[in-house]
Amino acid sequence: MNTTAIILAAGLGKRMKSDLPKPLHKVAGLPMVQLVVNNVRNAGIEQIYVVVGHGGEQVQQAVPETKHVVQSEQLGTGHAVDQCRTEMADSDGIVLITCADTPLFRAETFRDVIQYHVKSQAAATVITAEFANPTGYGRVVRNDDGSIARIVEEKDASDQEKQIKEINTGTYCFDSKLLFQYLSKITPNNAQGEYYLPDVLPLMIGDRYKVAAFCLSDPQEALGVNDRVQLAKAEQILQKRICEQHMLNGVTIINPAQTYIELDCEIGRDTVIFPNTYIQKGTKIGSNCLVGPNVRLEAAQLHDYVKIEQAIVVESSIGSHTSVGPFAYIRPGSHIGAQCKIGDFVEVKNSQVADQSKIPHLSYVGDAIVGSHVNIGCGTITCNYDGKKKHQTVIEDHSFIGSNTNLVAPVKIKRGAYIAAGSTITQDVPEYSLAIARARQVIKEGWNKTEG
Ligand code: UD1
Ligand code: CA
Repeated sequence: MNTTAIILAAGLGKRMKSDLPKPLHKVAGLPMVQLVVNNVRNAGIEQIYVVVGHGGEQVQQAVPETKHVVQSEQLGTGHAVDQCRTEMADSDGIVLITCADTPLFRAETFRDVIQYHVKSQAAATVITAEFANPTGYGRVVRNDDGSIARIVEEKDASDQEKQIKEINTGTYCFDSKLLFQYLSKITPNNAQGEYYLPDVLPLMIGDRYKVAAFCLSDPQEALGVNDRVQLAKAEQILQKRICEQHMLNGVTIINPAQTYIELDCEIGRDTVIFPNTYIQKGTKIGSNCLVGPNVRLEAAQLHDYVKIEQAIVVESSIGSHTSVGPFAYIRPGSHIGAQCKIGDFVEVKNSQVADQSKIPHLSYVGDAIVGSHVNIGCGTITCNYDGKKKHQTVIEDHSFIGSNTNLVAPVKIKRGAYIAAGSTITQDVPEYSLAIARARQVIKEGWNKTEG
């Protein structure tokens, strides 16, 4: 059956108290609207309309691959859906409606509810959930025979209706034609003066159309993010899910409560994640790595058997059997080879380091090409910046840079060359040679007379 999705994302999100439109607040590293679009798409729905309004352009940019419908005035969820009328006038099939502020729905749930809707031959199916504390949500009012009567919003509910624990999740399946037919009939006669989407349900029921309910087995999926407390709650639930998925795939996570992994990350089996590790979007970690404690990886690639502790890697790759840290910072555009050592207080930026090279302590290596089997002594600095431009340093295979060396770029240290400790190198060094660029030691005998 032809299935379309409508995602509501035009609301102001007043309770967020934010300059950022609510659909762009992130959970697990993704703007909520993008997360919802991904899940809808993963449920097999390709035709997706996103209703935008507040911060519309920004929201559109977050989900460029969907169709956008503008709701210029936010007159309620029913009014929002109605904005799709022209686009969907001819569509004959099912429409799944969900919101950008309920990011925890799983793709499988969308798929299950569509299947349930088709099977029950309903005109509409509401996804509901049982909440111990239903405050703030629309409540599902049922008839004595258990069938759905209507949804009542918190602000319109009587004290008795407020006792109802079954809530409207704000996600539904509709017969597309009937939906638009009934949207024309709803009115804003309620506490908020808005066109409520769920108000189509009692009208359909009145005309003897079947309205079904699909009660979630995991009510957590229905969490609505209206304020920052709920945003943190959504994050917590998603983190638990993400960590569990990695653990089931063979990753050891010492303490999931102290581990933060965004969506779109890969981690190989037998890798161990120590506490306080923050693994961000686009990161790929191989197998048998030891990651953490206190590591942040952002769009980083770690091959197998990497050991990294107390370090940050951003948009860079680390070869297999290489160790990084403690206290290392690998900045964008860096590629560290296999069996290397990047030690304590080392910063590497936009540099290539080939296999089996070592930068063990206290160095800055920026805009450099470092060959294999190179040893960069403690306190080495590539002076890459002349105040206007950045310049490259090349250090070829098997060379040895003595401690406390300044390499003033552009400069080349050729294969197998040695640099004496304390040198400031301003000219290229030929292969297999020794360069000493420091003042010769002078001894002034008896210079200190204080002790006679
Ligand atoms: C809505 C439901 C409520 C349900 C809850 C579940 C209605 C009237 N109420 O309430 O029954 O329990 O969701 O989370 O539907 N939006 C627009 N345009 C508008 C108004 C809203 O696009 O004019 C969008 C919002 O951006 C948001 C979604 O619709 O993504 C829901 O709006 P919100 O104001 O958060 O509704 P709730 O009060 O949470
Ligand atoms: Ca909401």
